[in-house]
Amino acid sequence: MAGKDLDLSKLRVETRLALAGRDPARHDGGVNPAIHRATTLVIEDTGDLYNTPQKTYALEGMAVQDALKVALLAIEGGAAVTLAPSGLGACTLALMTIARAGGELLVVDSVYGPTRRFCNTVLHRLGVRTTYFAPHIGGDIAGLINENTCGVFLESPGSITFEVQDVPAIAAAAKARGVPTILDNTWSAGLYFKPFEHGVDLSVQALTKYQAGHADAFMGAVLSATPQMGERVKATYKQLGLGASPDDAYLVLRGMRSLSVRLERQAASGLQIARWLETRPEVARVIHPALPSHPDHAIWKRDFTGAAGVFGAVLKPVAAAKLKVMLETYALFSMGFSWGGYESLIIPCDDNITRTAKPWKAEGPLVRLSIGLEHPGDLIADLAQGFARLA
Ligand SMILES: Cc1ncc(COP(=O)(O)O)c(C=O)c1O
Repeated sequence: MAGKDLDLSKLRVETRLALAGRDPARHDGGVNPAIHRATTLVIEDTGDLYNTPQKTYALEGMAVQDALKVALLAIEGGAAVTLAPSGLGACTLALMTIARAGGELLVVDSVYGPTRRFCNTVLHRLGVRTTYFAPHIGGDIAGLINENTCGVFLESPGSITFEVQDVPAIAAAAKARGVPTILDNTWSAGLYFKPFEHGVDLSVQALTKYQAGHADAFMGAVLSATPQMGERVKATYKQLGLGASPDDAYLVLRGMRSLSVRLERQAASGLQIARWLETRPEVARVIHPALPSHPDHAIWKRDFTGAAGVFGAVLKPVAAAKLKVMLETYALFSMGFSWGGYESLIIPCDDNITRTAKPWKAEGPLVRLSIGLEHPGDLIADLAQGFARLA
């Protein structure tokens, strides 16, 4: 069988994506795993009911979830992985694993809004304090770490505003004080940034985005640098009663087979569109880490091997009514939350930015574009027509 007895770590990522998690012998010869719906698992031996390393309840996942986990580890690395029902569920699972009452979390100011909301509501209620820090803090985060610090949460590039953090410097400062680091690594899809090579302890993926890739499944994952950390995440998953649907695990795994091809294309189209936007008189600046004009381009170039197809653009000041017309009348771009699917999306973002450590300042309205698999020439024509409607 293809892939049998192969050391996947010696193969290139495209090959790993095609092979990882395949086990036809477990699935009547099928190339893909069966979608196995189950709750109860029958146990023959009373001795195995309460004290066994075997699975005793299907909330732990069946073969299809196992196959997805194998594939995730083969791509991003790490010692263990736990699935979650959504990307946000993966963020909160990672946070619940390390948070403790009386403890303090250090969270990047440009974090995904719902992750911030979780810290400010549920964790706050449970006696966990959150301090937000400026995305460019780097190794100076050492000055914020104290005896109560129970974790550092990063997301690089940050949501909406795309600041690239100096993850190795932050992770090293945290490690020196025995503080675990979590990184929301969704933007790189686990392909273009290797968190465990940069000292991160827990990597979060919203698999809903590029891995699933077709706007039809929610799922998340928490990958751990060490087996010990992996056990802590798994225990928290069980304590919280979380699960990950077999149908959605199948869709995410199917999406991953074409991940590198889609992402390469979406990244190339994204960069082409970002460069074109830089030439437009209606645009004040484009916020794309792979553009030399991005303030953190040097860090991105040092740490990443590629870019995603989602980025921001600050427009020059424009009347709200005109912006509304432009956004609502595109032929190809739709407005909608999420990103990373095959379909191009655009959203206005000014109502979606909360900052407490370092205010967000912009020359005009900020929009976020997620570039899909349409031809970039058609997308550029659509954007150009939108600018014509602004005039
Ligand atoms: C950076 C980031 N992390 C996590 C999530 C949450 O993913 P999900 O929509 O699957 O809950 C999102 C969703 O937009 C995101 O952008």
